[in-house]
Amino acid sequence: SFEVKLASSGRVIKVEKDKTIITALAAAGVEIPFSCEQGVCGTCLTRVLEGVPDHKDNYLTPEEQAANDQLLPCCSRARSPMLVLDL
Ligand code: FES
Repeated sequence: SFEVKLASSGRVIKVEKDKTIITALAAAGVEIPFSCEQGVCGTCLTRVLEGVPDHKDNYLTPEEQAANDQLLPCCSRARSPMLVLDL
């Protein structure tokens, strides 16, 4: 598991192994718009302020993924213990 921190409120939410970032946030009352849930459409694109994403999408280019400043939270996860998201 890993944690995501919401930059606006400082809230920290744990993302268990069997949950996506989107489902963990929704369970905590934080709704992110989404559609495909497969990393294809880009609807859920979210800015990353700190931490290293584990990109699982097919939407960002390899260059965009390598920049580590955005991720698709419907499918992507974290390589670092915490991601700070621009939410
Ligand atoms: Fe489509 Fe996340 S919902 S990329």
